[in-house]
Amino acid sequence: MIKISPSILSSDFSNLETEIKKLETAGADMLHIDVMDGHFVDNITIGPTVISSIRKKTNLIFDVHLMISRPDKYIDDFIKSGADILTIHFESQSNIKESLIKIKQKNCLAGLALKPKTDPDVVLEYLNILDLILVMTVEPGFGGQEFMSSMIPKIKRVREYINNFSFNNIDLQVDGGLNNITSKKAISSGANIIVAGSYIFKSNNYKNQIKNLKNLK
Ligand code: DX5
Ligand code: ZN
Repeated sequence: MIKISPSILSSDFSNLETEIKKLETAGADMLHIDVMDGHFVDNITIGPTVISSIRKKTNLIFDVHLMISRPDKYIDDFIKSGADILTIHFESQSNIKESLIKIKQKNCLAGLALKPKTDPDVVLEYLNILDLILVMTVEPGFGGQEFMSSMIPKIKRVREYINNFSFNNIDLQVDGGLNNITSKKAISSGANIIVAGSYIFKSNNYKNQIKNLKNLK
């Protein structure tokens, strides 16, 4: 079952509630929320205050992608704000295992994201704790970048690890440059959650775009 997680980074922030309602109607499976601190990546986006306020407007699953240097310091805040899935970066300056365990202890799903240059083998140590692995298909920081086809072998490798070690509960998410063509490649390589920002929000027919991403004809 392929799930689509629209990234609100490319949405109209002055009308966030309307955008979220449109995504609900369009069949989004969850909402991808990109948090950037201006340190782990150059860009600065939103934090727990905005997440809490949109939490009151929708029951969609909140898939929160933390592109911040010290996720360990903010786990409580993001879970309190309404995150259902909290994904931290392997490359961040936190103790990864402790942070993932802390997320799980607070009844939240735990994800680990890998930047493009990071070796897929790093996930092996955490497979028994993880609910989600995010393979970045662009350098994190901005929406609207081109999908890196060189990430295909990495997606396949992570899928092999999940299947070979029977961790079939772990979702394999891809993020960056996903459109109708690149999502097809990612899905056939083993991804089951597609994050998409510009491909959805540049269109005026979100439903159609979500359907295209799932490669449903
Ligand atoms: C990039 C973010 C992505 C981004 C995706 O750092 O993590 O979620 O919003 O946007 P598109 O789909 O436009 O590449
Ligand atoms: Zn993201």
